[in-house]
Amino acid sequence: MAELSHRALRELIESFGGCDEYFTEMISAGAFAAGGPFEAWYADNGPCPGKTVYQLGGRDAGQIARAAALLSERECLGIDINMGCSAPAITRTGAGVRWMESIDKAGNLAALTRKAVKRRLSVKLRTGPGDDFDYLVRFCRRLEEEGVELITLHPRTAREKFRRQAKWSYVPALKKELRIKVAGNGDISSAAEMLDRSALCDAVMTGRLAVKQPWCFSEARTLETRNSGGYDSRGYNVEETGLRFLELLCRYQPPEFHLSRARRFFSYFCGSLTWAHYLTTLLNREQGLAGMERVWRGYFAEHPEEINIPRRKQRGMLFL
Ligand SMILES: Cc1cc2nc3c(=O)[nH]c(=O)nc-3n(C[C@H](O)[C@H](O)[C@H](O)COP(=O)(O)O)c2cc1C
Repeated sequence: MAELSHRALRELIESFGGCDEYFTEMISAGAFAAGGPFEAWYADNGPCPGKTVYQLGGRDAGQIARAAALLSERECLGIDINMGCSAPAITRTGAGVRWMESIDKAGNLAALTRKAVKRRLSVKLRTGPGDDFDYLVRFCRRLEEEGVELITLHPRTAREKFRRQAKWSYVPALKKELRIKVAGNGDISSAAEMLDRSALCDAVMTGRLAVKQPWCFSEARTLETRNSGGYDSRGYNVEETGLRFLELLCRYQPPEFHLSRARRFFSYFCGSLTWAHYLTTLLNREQGLAGMERVWRGYFAEHPEEINIPRRKQRGMLFL
């Protein structure tokens, strides 16, 4: 996720026990090939290179294949092509979900990238330009023919962006139509839901939940039973997690990115707190990380009852 799924967040998730795969922020193939000033940060594969999937975006198939070849020389699990982003700044350029407008063009991109990389090749996509399941199946079958090994479906159309609910019924339906692996993504709001959804497909991908609750993967992995509901008084320390994130941000992101990334992170992370809106406004007024840290500590000094989020008693495994 742009501005979110960088090394600092991966480090934070790892500190809670980690998850099985980490997809990077979308890396612009054009900027990467041109050696832009921040590309080294985007290509950082720490702390778990073997679990890192580089995600590429762009509108030019040749450029994407070249960037994929360069990135796959680094240690990583695979290369992912973004055919799902619906942000206007991206679709305006012909990238992201715009690839879903033509089966042939997308197929040629997959074929070219397949030739360029030996690592696992995957594609992240949406339902398509419209809500047409048969089109989605034809689109994905072509990707399968061209050597794509995993498809992650965020089941919303291009125009829906984040509106309405993700149509999860499309995920197992698509899985039935393909030989390759299908992962589902969208609107997973708890570790328990992650477990439920994982029964419908080969893997689940969570986006915003992983920022709001970086412990969600370890929680899902060890969830006792769906109905057990017991709580452990230790809880997850929210204050400490926020402070740890600020530290990791300083260590693993360039200074130019600190403020925007911290604001983005806290706008999600504050979600579990009672006075989330008020606190986010205060944090956003700050012009540096030191000020944000002061505001963050101040909030918990006033609301010590919010420092810990209860932790479920857990058992069981989640395979992503
Ligand atoms: C701030 C933000 C940035 C995102 N950036 C990307 C991206 O770079 N690549 C991508 O495939 N999806 C991106 N997404 C979409 C998410 O990966 C995911 O498909 C979507 O948020 C739905 O999943 P969720 O409900 O688990 O968050 C982004 C979403 C958000 C909120």
